[in-house]
Amino acid sequence: MRVSFIGYGSMAESLSSRWVGKHELFIAGRDPNKAQSLASRLAQGTKAGSPQEAVEFGEVIILATPHEAVFEALEASGGSNAFANKILLDINNPVEPSNGDYLTKSYHGVSLSEAIAAYSPKAKVVKAFNMCQAKVWQMQPPTFDGRLLVTLYCGDDAQAKRQVASLIEDVGSEPVDLGELKYARLLEAAAAIVIKLLFSGRNPYTVLNLIQPEIKPIS
Ligand SMILES: NC(=O)c1ccc[n+]([C@@H]2O[C@H](COP(=O)([O-])OP(=O)(O)OC[C@H]3O[C@@H](n4cnc5c(N)ncnc54)[C@H](OP(=O)(O)O)[C@@H]3O)[C@@H](O)[C@H]2O)c1
Repeated sequence: MRVSFIGYGSMAESLSSRWVGKHELFIAGRDPNKAQSLASRLAQGTKAGSPQEAVEFGEVIILATPHEAVFEALEASGGSNAFANKILLDINNPVEPSNGDYLTKSYHGVSLSEAIAAYSPKAKVVKAFNMCQAKVWQMQPPTFDGRLLVTLYCGDDAQAKRQVASLIEDVGSEPVDLGELKYARLLEAAAAIVIKLLFSGRNPYTVLNLIQPEIKPIS
């Protein structure tokens, strides 16, 4: 898959490093030198460039900026129409870290993912990867108490969700489809629980995992 990142911070670095050699990657952001720096650290041949070039390149575009910057980044990447038929993967949490407040009011009462879908109605928006601290995505494999980390995702386009599910498998996690994009509000609220606990001083490997009795722990 051709996967582009807008942003080159902790989450972009953590996820992209797991997809090197499996997917074609493109790193972009406001500062071309910083984008190139991450691309060079990942692997020779990893592309870097402007946000607009990233959108042209990618089948999947990952928004990896602070949540407050998402719409500015979308505008700088070409605006609403630039994302038509692209998979827009929203990993962002509209959460105030100091107290865990879930900031839906910033997005008129809907989840950030739904606000992104309203901004770019022809994009295929999928929410995933938002519930764990960046370091967790580097675990190989991500297991907790002998169970694989389950990554919940949601979206309205079945094909886009299948592609995101395969990206989840490529970090060694087990994808579980939560349903339509409206369930992004649950994923964002669940992430708020984790963020509140992490910012109270818990270990960064603290996660909310889904235990499925039908799937036995890894022996
Ligand atoms: N860190 C985590 O553990 C974690 C876990 C799950 C989800 N998330 C979510 O993932 C998102 C990214 O988090 P992160 O920890 O990777 O953040 P980060 O390390 O602070 O990186 C944010 C990136 O966004 C760029 N950026 C800032 N403003 C921008 C703008 N207006 N346009 C384009 N790029 C901009 C920054 O670079 P410049 O300032 O140089 O432009 C930087 O590369 C957040 O929404 C967060 O809620 C984070």
